[in-house]
Amino acid sequence: MKPLRIALTKGRLEKDTVGLFEKLGYDCSEVKNKGRRLILPIYDGEGNTTFEVVLAKAADVITYVEHGVCDLGVAGKDTIMEHGSSFYEVLDLGFGKCRFALAGPVGKDFFTGYKSRTIASKYPNVARAFFESKAMDVRVIKIEGSVELAPLLGLSDAIVDIVETGSTLRENGLEVIETICEISARMIVNTAAMKLRKAEIEALIRQIEQAKEEQP
Ligand code: PRP
Repeated sequence: MKPLRIALTKGRLEKDTVGLFEKLGYDCSEVKNKGRRLILPIYDGEGNTTFEVVLAKAADVITYVEHGVCDLGVAGKDTIMEHGSSFYEVLDLGFGKCRFALAGPVGKDFFTGYKSRTIASKYPNVARAFFESKAMDVRVIKIEGSVELAPLLGLSDAIVDIVETGSTLRENGLEVIETICEISARMIVNTAAMKLRKAEIEALIRQIEQAKEEQP
């Protein structure tokens, strides 16, 4: 049987996921010493390749899982909310915790008045859905990074972005106006793989759930 193929979001989620797999007793040495390689094996205790890890950008993790070229994926709830549609979200992995928030200049009353608002965000779909839920008509401008710049430069009234420690907001004279939702890393599964490789995938889910319960 081919090893299960897992798409991992490069960077911090990759490190946390490797930590989790090591806790489950798998050998992740190839992933840890990957150099510039993008597809790496994870071995079981006997040196058999149990998983094949594909390292990708968050949005691409979703694309690879949706198209079925990867059976499983690890991605943040933020990326799933922005880009995801057709796969199973099977586990909250409990790491990569942060939140989506609406934020703006300190002391400015965002909600008062009738003027139409402009929102800058790396997550335009999340921003639009949030304001639709409030029946507020806003203009959303897509920004690729350091979205905190947009209100400072006068491009937008506020931003919808990820807040972790809050220091980027604080150090740029911005504050949270409203928390939109909590975010953490999730395991996602291709819909066909969930049927074809049900036993292996369910066994992995059980192992991870058990490891989470054993955490202090
Ligand atoms: C994220 C986010 C904020 C910052 C929040 O950006 O977009 O800018 O982290 O973290 P904090 O609350 O701990 O300050 P990231 O570092 O991913 O970089 P980017 O803006 O260039 O995408």
